[in-house]
Amino acid sequence: MAVFAVGITGGSGAPYALRLLGALASSGHDAHVVISPAGEKVLQLETGLRLGRTLREKEDALTRALELVEGREGRGTLRLFDPMNLAAPISSGSFPSAGMVIVPCSTGTLGRVANGISSNLIERAADVMLKERRRLVVVPRETPLSEIHLRNMLALRQAGADILPAMPAFYHRPRTIADMVDMIVGRILDRLGVENSLFYRWGKDTAAGDVQMEE
Ligand SMILES: Cc1cc2nc3c(=O)[nH]c(=O)nc-3n(C[C@H](O)[C@H](O)[C@H](O)COP(=O)(O)O)c2cc1C
Repeated sequence: MAVFAVGITGGSGAPYALRLLGALASSGHDAHVVISPAGEKVLQLETGLRLGRTLREKEDALTRALELVEGREGRGTLRLFDPMNLAAPISSGSFPSAGMVIVPCSTGTLGRVANGISSNLIERAADVMLKERRRLVVVPRETPLSEIHLRNMLALRQAGADILPAMPAFYHRPRTIADMVDMIVGRILDRLGVENSLFYRWGKDTAAGDVQMEE
């Protein structure tokens, strides 16, 4: 099974990150996870998950939180790395990771990655994905967007990244926040080539002709 890098930064949207980690693990994939200090604060604020002080405590807390949701069987492993550990495996193109997701991606991290500023492990690993021409999925969250944000997204797209904003749709009539989270996470997994049935697929989950547009 593959190893994916997952960067969690201080944009709003920590539930997307937890759900993604759970889905990767339950599909049998391993994750090398890096959480920025701002990402950790937002994670705590949005999910109530307090990671602890040391890297080991944080990794254990994250693993426990995911097992509660997803169970243990056939799971991929999760390893957490310090954001300043620039000697971690995903810092090098020679480490055979299959791709990376930054979710949520703050506009700060977006700008630094778009400009090749590898000031921490998340930014360095993203830079590696681009230079190695591997899959990099960036999930920005901000509204409204400034011209600077838009330019940075365009630069990243042109460099080969997928820009997948946290913009859930409503045509599948989500009933819960979890439904909306799953739609975004399912789209991320699609970009990584990880099979999933997390969300409603137009034309597959509806019989043809179920929906009639007004003439
Ligand atoms: C509760 C909270 C929510 C935030 N939401 C966003 C957001 O949606 N998008 C964003 O770009 N920054 C957001 N920020 C600001 C970032 O966390 C901040 O710019 C930080 O420096 C990003 O650092 P990082 O990219 O290293 O994680 C938020 C901060 C807090 C405390």
